[in-house]
Amino acid sequence: MTILSIETSCDETAAAVIEAEGGMSRPRFKILSNIVSSQVKIHRPYGGVVPNLAKRAHQENLAAVLKKALEEAKLLKKNPKSEIRNPKQIPNTKYQILNTILEREEILRPKVIQFVKKYQAPKIDLIAVTRGPGLAPALWPGVNFARALAYFWGKPVIGANHLEGHIAANWLMPISGIKNSELRIKNYFPIICLIVSGGHTQLILMKGLGKYKLIGETRDDAAGECFDKTARILGLGYPGGPAIARTAEQWKSEIRNSKSETNTKYKIPDTKYQIHLPRPMINAKNYDFSFSGLKTAVLYLVKEIEKSQKLTEEIRAAIAAECQQAVIDVLIFKTLKAAKNFRAKTVMLSGGVAANKELKRQIADAAKKKIPNSLFLIPDSRFCTDNAVMIAAAGYFASRRVKSISWQTLKADANLRLA
Ligand code: KG4
Ligand code: ZN
Repeated sequence: MTILSIETSCDETAAAVIEAEGGMSRPRFKILSNIVSSQVKIHRPYGGVVPNLAKRAHQENLAAVLKKALEEAKLLKKNPKSEIRNPKQIPNTKYQILNTILEREEILRPKVIQFVKKYQAPKIDLIAVTRGPGLAPALWPGVNFARALAYFWGKPVIGANHLEGHIAANWLMPISGIKNSELRIKNYFPIICLIVSGGHTQLILMKGLGKYKLIGETRDDAAGECFDKTARILGLGYPGGPAIARTAEQWKSEIRNSKSETNTKYKIPDTKYQIHLPRPMINAKNYDFSFSGLKTAVLYLVKEIEKSQKLTEEIRAAIAAECQQAVIDVLIFKTLKAAKNFRAKTVMLSGGVAANKELKRQIADAAKKKIPNSLFLIPDSRFCTDNAVMIAAAGYFASRRVKSISWQTLKADANLRLA
C-alpha cells in the first residue's frame, strides 16, 4: 500500500510517501520521501508558535512540500501540456467543489487548483492526514488540503492521531537484532510508551496496536514546553529544547575541562551558587507529571541571582544543565517504574523531547540496568520531532481498524485523545 501523508498540527509543514505492508501483525515500512518545512524562523521573534502565523505558513507551503514529497518518491507526473492550458476534460463543477472544500484557505486554494491542473493524480492508495491533537488553526489547512486532494484524485483519506503517529515512529526502522522476517508485533506487548513533546507528556500502556491506556500525564506543562519556557527565561533562543540541550552540553564540557574539585556538581566557581532544581512529583504514588513549577523555580532563581550579580554564561549553562537533568530524572524514574509494575516487554520513547541526546543515553543505560529483559526502543531523531512519515504509519494502522472515511466527513479535532 502506498500512502501519502500530511502533517500540520503545529509549526512544521510536512508531507511524506511510504510503502506499508504486513498489516497489524508484521508491519513493515519503506520510506519513499520525507519532507519537513520548518517555520522556526517565523515564530522565533515571538519565542513560541503563533497559531495564525502557523496557519498562514502552512497554506503557503503545503503545495510545495507535497510537490517535493511526490518528486522524491518518483510519483510526480505532469499532465500533458494541452490539458494544462485547456483543462476542459475536467468538468467545472469539480473545480467548484474544490473551491468549496478550500473555502476558508484563501492562500492555499489557488495553489491547489494550479497543482491539480499541472500534475496527474499520483499512484497512491491512501492519503493520511493529522486530524489532531494540535493547534486548530494549524490543523485545518492540512485537513482541508488532504480532503481536497482526496476528492479531486478520487482517493480514500484517513484522519490520523498525531500521538499515535509519535508512537508509530518506533516501528519505522528495523529493530536492531531482529530480522524483519521474524518480526511479530504481538510479542512486544505489553508496551510502556512515554510520549514527550511540546504539547504532551504521557505514559501509555499498550496491550496491542491501537489499544491505549493512559496511565499518567502532565497536570500542567509538557516537558518540551518546560524547556521552551526555561530557554526563554534564560534568553537562550527558540526552540527551547535544542537550545537547552546545547547549553547543557557546554556546561558539561566545561566541567570536563575544569580541574576544580568543587566544580563537579552545578557549583558556579567564584560565586556562592550551587544550582539545584526540584524533581517535581518524582515521589508521587502515581504516573503523573508536573513541569510548570520547574520553570517557575528557574525564574525565581534567576531573579535571586540577578540581585547580586549578572547572569553569566556559565550560570546560564549550569541552570540549563540542571533543568535538563531534573526533567530527565523524573521521566526516567516514572517510565521505568511503570515498566516494572506493568511487566512491560517493551519500553518506547517518542515525541520531540525524545530527540534529546542526554535523555536517550541516560534512559537507555537505566533500562539496561533496571529492566534488562525488556526491549528498549527509541526512534531516529528525525522521526522523534514532528514529521509526516509517522503520520503515514499511524494512518496505515488506523486504516486496518476503521474504514477510511469520506473527504466529506473528515474534520480536525484539536483536542483528540488517544484512548
Ligand atoms: O513532537 P514535537 O516536534 O512537536 C509536538 O508535537 O509538540 O516536539 C517539539 C518539542 C519542543 O518543545 C522542543 O523544544 C522539543 O520538542 N525538542 C527537544 C529537542 N528537540 C526538540 N527537547 C529537548 N532536546 C531536544 N534535542
Ligand atoms: Zn508532535
